[in-house]
Amino acid sequence: MCGIIGYTGRREAVDILLDGLEKLEYRGYDSAGVAVVSEEGTLAVQKSKGRLKVLKEQLAAMPPLAGTTGIGHTRWATHGEPNDLNAHPHVSEDGRVAVVHNGIIENYIEIREFLTRQGIEFRSETDTEVVAQLMQYYLREYTDIMDVVYAVLHRIEGAYALGILCGDAPGQIIAARKDAPLLIGYGEGENFIASDVTALLAHTRKVSYMEDGEVAVITPDSVEVYDIDRIPLKKEIHQVEWDVSAAEKGGYPHFMLKEIMEQPEAVRKTISPRLRDGRVWFDEMAGREDFFDGIKRVAVTACGSAYHVGMLGKYMLEKLLKLPVEVSIASEFRYSDPMVDGETLVIVISQSGETLDSLAALREAKKRGAKTLAIVNVIGSSIAREADMVFYTWAGPEIAVATTKAYSTQIVLLLLAGLYWADRKGSISGEEYQELIDGLLALPDQIQEILDRVDDYQETASRYFNHDSVFFIGRNLDHALGLEGSLKLKEISYIHSESYAAGELKHGTISLVEPGTLVVALATYGPLFEKTRSNIVEVQARGADVVALVTEDRADALPEGVNGIFVIPKTHPLLQPNLGVVPLQLFAYYVALHRGCDIDKPRNLAKSVTVE
Ligand code: M6R
Repeated sequence: MCGIIGYTGRREAVDILLDGLEKLEYRGYDSAGVAVVSEEGTLAVQKSKGRLKVLKEQLAAMPPLAGTTGIGHTRWATHGEPNDLNAHPHVSEDGRVAVVHNGIIENYIEIREFLTRQGIEFRSETDTEVVAQLMQYYLREYTDIMDVVYAVLHRIEGAYALGILCGDAPGQIIAARKDAPLLIGYGEGENFIASDVTALLAHTRKVSYMEDGEVAVITPDSVEVYDIDRIPLKKEIHQVEWDVSAAEKGGYPHFMLKEIMEQPEAVRKTISPRLRDGRVWFDEMAGREDFFDGIKRVAVTACGSAYHVGMLGKYMLEKLLKLPVEVSIASEFRYSDPMVDGETLVIVISQSGETLDSLAALREAKKRGAKTLAIVNVIGSSIAREADMVFYTWAGPEIAVATTKAYSTQIVLLLLAGLYWADRKGSISGEEYQELIDGLLALPDQIQEILDRVDDYQETASRYFNHDSVFFIGRNLDHALGLEGSLKLKEISYIHSESYAAGELKHGTISLVEPGTLVVALATYGPLFEKTRSNIVEVQARGADVVALVTEDRADALPEGVNGIFVIPKTHPLLQPNLGVVPLQLFAYYVALHRGCDIDKPRNLAKSVTVE
């Protein structure tokens, strides 16, 4: 959701904050702001509605904000429309405290009313401002700033990652975390806070992850962390492996295109550490090889594209394990009184590892005694830390809001987990096991082969970018894949698009198909090709234009009159979606490009959704 950065050191803070905000802008981009504190304790704030570049232009046109300690924020609005006043940092009425916040203060109305009765005047419509004003209120009562901070934290309810500057303690940032990500970066004579490690890569790779209830006091030369009872803690410092270039565009016009192109490498990096002497092996399971033993059913829960991976997972895992697999959207799962117990494995899939709905689903599953496995990309993220077992996708940082390489690596990881488990359980034949291992090894080169045909997708996109309604149809794994193809298209191009099981269309939706409607027909699932072929003919009969996704061996078997064909190499049916998704990503990308959309930062969206 929102992005937070904080710096305290010996360099001027503003440029470092702006550089960090640039890396975090994918988390939210309605407005941005910075606050710095001078050695004398004077706070200076600049913030504005719109993209970060607006703030940068404003700062460039005014005298520099001097100070070597500061905080910055990029916002995804929840409470209060995106405007200058609602932008962060929020400052207390007396100007002594500045606050940046990610999350939602749920009891802000009650606190706001209380403070208003005390004569404090609010300037914004946000929930966050109550934190700054409460700080001011308690500063009258306590002289020790940490007494003030703890009084505030005991008063507020909800989720927060907070960065606080106080004129009474220049050179110091106070950070607090509950249900929203926040990490501390350690430099030489300077230290940082950030929502996400990508903001810090240019300065340090040494980080520690704040846990719920923790409060940190950060100066240029020290980091002290306390728990909710103010007991000092010793934090583990992790070395981040990602390099700076991984979070840069590297010559590509958009992060999304770069990340699509990185898929062969990301998939290879996710697979190769999990193969040993031709068999699937997870270092993560060393000493816990029996993790899957005794499980009778599987529940997969996730949001958005990660949920679509879960949909693929249902088809894959049921086939491999012969166990029932249910898939649910995390925001539904958590409130559904889920039927999970000690014999259920709950798999939570999340690129960011911070999606609040998925985190809450994980916690609900654990509360009910289920075993939990997380498939996550961001190391040290909340979901990764809280699950009983975590398998990391090695996709590297994903910046574009529309996920691509994380999705691809999630599929292979889920399949690898299924293979390991099926082998242990004896539910897969030696022949099929080998076929899948061979298929996995061939995947990166096959993805590359598809990427090399980029002109085909570009050309098809140039013919269809001005359509306003698109249907994706497919059966079995192709149906699950269609959900992702449709989401990719709609989230970045703003074209209304729906995905249907191909056999379901005739039960209502086909009434929307009329001459010129675009139907993207996914026909890569070999066992049901003929059935999907018939569905293509049905929509053609109603005048639809059809773009078909098909394996190379079946390109000639498509019905006459198909208007566009994306041909992909053939592999084992369970691996086919890993190839099929690539043309769909590129089609969506080029459609959005033709429409002049802001591809990496689509309207109303944010990369990491840490609110309900
Ligand atoms: O970080 P997560 O994988 O938990 O995020 C889940 C969804 O918010 C995410 O997949 C979203 O749907 C993407 N914008 C899709 O491209």
